[in-house]
Amino acid sequence: MFFCLLLLAFVAASSVCAASTNSSGLIFGYYYIVTAEDGGAVQYTNNDDGEYTLEWTNNSGSFVAGAGYDPGSAQTIRFGSFEVAGSSYLSIYGWTTNPLVEYHILEQNYGGNDPPVGLTWKGNLTSDSSVYDIYETEIVHKQSILGVTNFKQYWSIRQDLRSDGLVTTGNHFSAWAAVGMPLGTFNYQIVAAEGFASSVNGSLTNAVESPPAGPVRQFSCLVQAHI
Ligand SMILES: *[C@@H]1O[C@H](CO)[C@@H](O)[C@H](O)[C@H]1NC(C)=O
Ligand SMILES: *[C@@H]1O[C@H](CO)[C@@H](O)[C@H](O)[C@H]1NC(C)=O
Ligand SMILES: *[C@@H]1O[C@H](CO)[C@@H](O)[C@H](O)[C@H]1NC(C)=O
Ligand SMILES: *[C@@H]1O[C@H](CO)[C@@H](O)[C@H](O)[C@H]1NC(C)=O
Repeated sequence: MFFCLLLLAFVAASSVCAASTNSSGLIFGYYYIVTAEDGGAVQYTNNDDGEYTLEWTNNSGSFVAGAGYDPGSAQTIRFGSFEVAGSSYLSIYGWTTNPLVEYHILEQNYGGNDPPVGLTWKGNLTSDSSVYDIYETEIVHKQSILGVTNFKQYWSIRQDLRSDGLVTTGNHFSAWAAVGMPLGTFNYQIVAAEGFASSVNGSLTNAVESPPAGPVRQFSCLVQAHI
């Protein structure tokens, strides 16, 4: 896989390499991750500096995929979604350890998916021109970055949904801490698309940008994740 990536970098930007399972790695300064479960299938393409495209066809499962940083931080992240169809969430998504937390700053909800079930409302904050509602829940015995275990899930859900803009993540992290939702040590932090069980075909092109991460290099790689 990574040999393939390396090879391609020197061969042709339009080349494609494929893996038929979950994938993650670093491509010229940007971390990316693709996971699919329960029959989810998604094609992930890194286009160039932090930009990626996702396509899914007749997806009967779910997936999470995106590009960003490892580790994350309380940084301002620019995202931009240029084309979308199908059913998905667009969010700043990440994990911390000690405590083990999975978090979402939800910016867009394509297809009007139901909000996640079982969330407890903890408060709200105003950031980046909208109010966000803060929620917390406890996830029991599910897959995490540390394997199957229990963990907290934090959400900021934007009231005025949008498909591009700047997210001042530090505002959320401070607001969460103030209502008893502390983060731990940052793990990965990505601009993520999350698709759900649906027989809808979708596609999304997105870009992630923050303080520039290293030299800008042209790159293209296709990752297919499915089970
Ligand atoms: C891919 O990751 C998902 C989510 O962590 C997991 O449920 C699934 O079993 C993984 N698939 C494979 C083939 O390892
Ligand atoms: C779409 O998915 C459903 C459920 O998995 C399956 O029954 C159906 O045959 C699929 N359709 C196509 C065109 O692949
Ligand atoms: C934010 O939360 C407060 C209660 O803490 C509530 O009174 C207020 O209406 C909320 N604002 C919005 C815009 O939801
Ligand atoms: C999804 O794409 C597949 C393959 O291109 C096609 O057969 C199917 O009809 C499409 N389904 C929808 C709901 O558009």
